[in-house]
Amino acid sequence: MKFFLDTANLQQIKEAQELGVLDGVTTNPSLMAKEGVKGEDEIRNHYKQICEIVDGDVSAEVLSMTYDEMVKEGEELAALHPQITVKLPCTKDGIRAVKYFADKGVKTNCTLVFSVGQALLAAKAGAKYVSPFVGRLDDICSDGVALIEQIVNVYNYYGFETQVLAASIRHTQHIIQCMEAGADVSTCPLNAILGLLKHPLTDQGLEAFMKDAEKMKSEK
Ligand code: G3P
Repeated sequence: MKFFLDTANLQQIKEAQELGVLDGVTTNPSLMAKEGVKGEDEIRNHYKQICEIVDGDVSAEVLSMTYDEMVKEGEELAALHPQITVKLPCTKDGIRAVKYFADKGVKTNCTLVFSVGQALLAAKAGAKYVSPFVGRLDDICSDGVALIEQIVNVYNYYGFETQVLAASIRHTQHIIQCMEAGADVSTCPLNAILGLLKHPLTDQGLEAFMKDAEKMKSEK
């Protein structure tokens, strides 16, 4: 399973890249706004900086709502860097735009997906990634991980190549659950990835090893 970082924070992206386990980055307008990125030039420059830090795909979301505008904006975003993946909402215009870009060989990420029907349309249109929002479904007392499993089963049954990118991951356990459900990618906050490292037996074991290491050093 690939790990993407779900942030536009350059420092966090650098930290995850240095860890050596980062496969890509996803952003959205809320994450970009959180970093104080404003105006067309700053936005584009920020995407370029992200692409220079990571080796994998970087999702850049369109800010427009209509097909014609999405195509224009998506083409401009895709031209910024070969790692850019055009992120499009799962609406009627968005699905049309996914198909347009698929026919041109441009990578897309179909976002704001909350049902298996939406995921089916994204795959049929040729999206490289589909982004079901796990946490936001859990927020409304629905089962986000169950949706991941359902989409994975349908895609496997029909042989769709679209990768299931579990989004809206809120904590470490979500990553484990999405992995068990067969997600191809989890896009996560950095803390959720770092949470995978935590185990009290690792800490206790290391402390004991270090004490014994000290003894060995002093016995030299
Ligand atoms: O990029 C989409 C996404 O992961 C949103 O997460 O936490 O705002 O529901 P969240």
